[in-house]
Parts: sequence; C-alpha cells; structure tokens
Amino acid sequence: MAEQSMARQGKTLTLGVFARRKRDGQKIVLLTAYDLTSALIAAAGGVDAILVGDSVGMVVLGHQNTLPVTVDDMLHHCRAVARANPRVPIIVDLPYGSFHVSPAQTVTHALRLVKEGGAHAVKIEGGRQRREVIRALVDAEIPVMGHLGLTPQSVNRLGGYKVQGRSKAAAQRMREDAALLAELGCFSLVLECVPSALASEISTKIPIPTIGIGAGAGCDGQVLVFHDMLGLFTGLKPKFVKRFADLGAAARQAVAAYADEVRQGTFPAAEHEYDDQPSGGANGSPANVSGQAGYLGDVEGQKD
Ligand code: KIV
Repeated sequence: MAEQSMARQGKTLTLGVFARRKRDGQKIVLLTAYDLTSALIAAAGGVDAILVGDSVGMVVLGHQNTLPVTVDDMLHHCRAVARANPRVPIIVDLPYGSFHVSPAQTVTHALRLVKEGGAHAVKIEGGRQRREVIRALVDAEIPVMGHLGLTPQSVNRLGGYKVQGRSKAAAQRMREDAALLAELGCFSLVLECVPSALASEISTKIPIPTIGIGAGAGCDGQVLVFHDMLGLFTGLKPKFVKRFADLGAAARQAVAAYADEVRQGTFPAAEHEYDDQPSGGANGSPANVSGQAGYLGDVEGQKD
C-alpha cells in the first residue's frame, strides 16, 4: 500500500515522513487546520501533516494580518486540532512576538504548544536572525520547521505581501539562510512566494525538504490554507491559491435555503420533530442510528 494512504487506513505518521518522502522523491502534502472539523477533513483527505498556521488570525479570527495572534490563540486552536487525533504530525506556528524577546522565552512558549497543545513541532518565520532561538528549540528537543521568503509576520517591514528573492542579493541571502536553517537542525522549510527557479534550486541543494506555497512545483511538498483551497475565505486570493472547491458559494446557498424554509414554515418538517414517546432503543434509551457521536452525542434519532 502506498504510504500516502496509510493515514486513512488508521496508521499514524510521524515527523519522519518528511525525510522519508524527500529521500524517496515523493511529494509531501500539508494543509492548515484550526479546529476539530478541519483537522478531521484534512486527515480523511490523506494529508501527510497538518499546520496550525497563524493564518488562523485572518481566516478565522478576523484580523487584518497575523500580527495580533497570541500564543494562547495558537494553543486554543492547536488543542482543537489535536483532539481530532488526525494521526499525522501537527505543526504549530510560533506567533509574532512569541520568539522575539529571548531564546528562553521562546522555548517556554513552544513547550506549552507541545505539552498543552498537542503539537509535534513548531514553525518559526525568519532566517539568520533566528539562529539562537532555533538552536535553543532544537536543544529542547522541539522539532522546528523554518519559513523563508514572504514571511507574513514581517508585513510591516516588507511593506506588504510581495514576492521575495527576486534581486540577486535577496536570492543569495535566501540560499544562505536556507542552508543555515538546515544546518541548525530544522527538519523542513517553508518557502512562501519565491520565484520557482530559486525555490527549485534551494530544494535540490539543501538536505531537508522544502514545502512551497507560491514557490512552484520544484519544492519537495506543498502547503495551502484550508479556507483558501476550499473557497471558504474570499477576502484575499493570491495567485498561488488554487480553489479545489467552492464551498463558500455552497454554504451561502445552503444558509439562504435554510432561511427561506424557516420563513415559509417548511423547515422543520415532521421528520425533524420529536413526539412525546422515545422512538427507539430498549426502555426508552436513545436510538443513535449511525452509532457516531455528533456534537450532541447519542441524541435520539440521529441519522448521519
Ligand atoms: O500561517 C500559515 O498558514 C502559514 C502557511 C501559509 C505556510 O504559515
């Protein structure tokens, strides 16, 4: 059986999948998730790992950028993803401000995300300026994913969300930073909004897998934001986003149909109502037709 489908067969993937896929020349598939439902969907779809990205700040929490996201926000969402028991590695973003004060404080935040959040690794934005912090994390046995190119937490310094590494000097700096992050012990590296030729070159030169987002097909793997690829978040649509579904439109239509039916009195129908006698189960115990616990557990008459 191809390893890609192992997670779907109930087997558990560990972070070792990153090195193995690179060694075997197989692409690595990452997707962001922020809660139980998105994590269950990602896992059922057969991703290799889940990123609890600080993009949660924009697509879930409604911030203009990722800067306001806190360690407590990341912890809250990471826990929800971990409760899904997705059986793939969970990588969580260290949010802006959590690694800028000192290596010791960074390790304290990262330990919380691992111990209380259920994360298997952390991701940190930046290159050589993160040297000491990454060393401290690796020394504390916390696996680290790097992130170069467009680092959204640098939006103020960069003056917007722009492709990075186009000038000779910037490309050279990125090559050096990528090599350094691998040397420091990062297990993988996200390259965001980087010219595809440069991303390909870095991917062949460094020993750890690169995960691209807007960095072309030459990367060792890809990551997308859950809400972007499903068409749920329409606030921004960068060129690198492919919408694999338009669930936003489907959801809007469903809500409009619900509102219509409530107003016309056609929902709820008889099939959605309870009468004064339990409808199934011995001695009036609830009948859970599907056998699956939903958010109401085994409420009577649950169908799917
Ligand atoms: O926060 C995030 O979702 C990310 C990915 C886009 C790489 O950092």
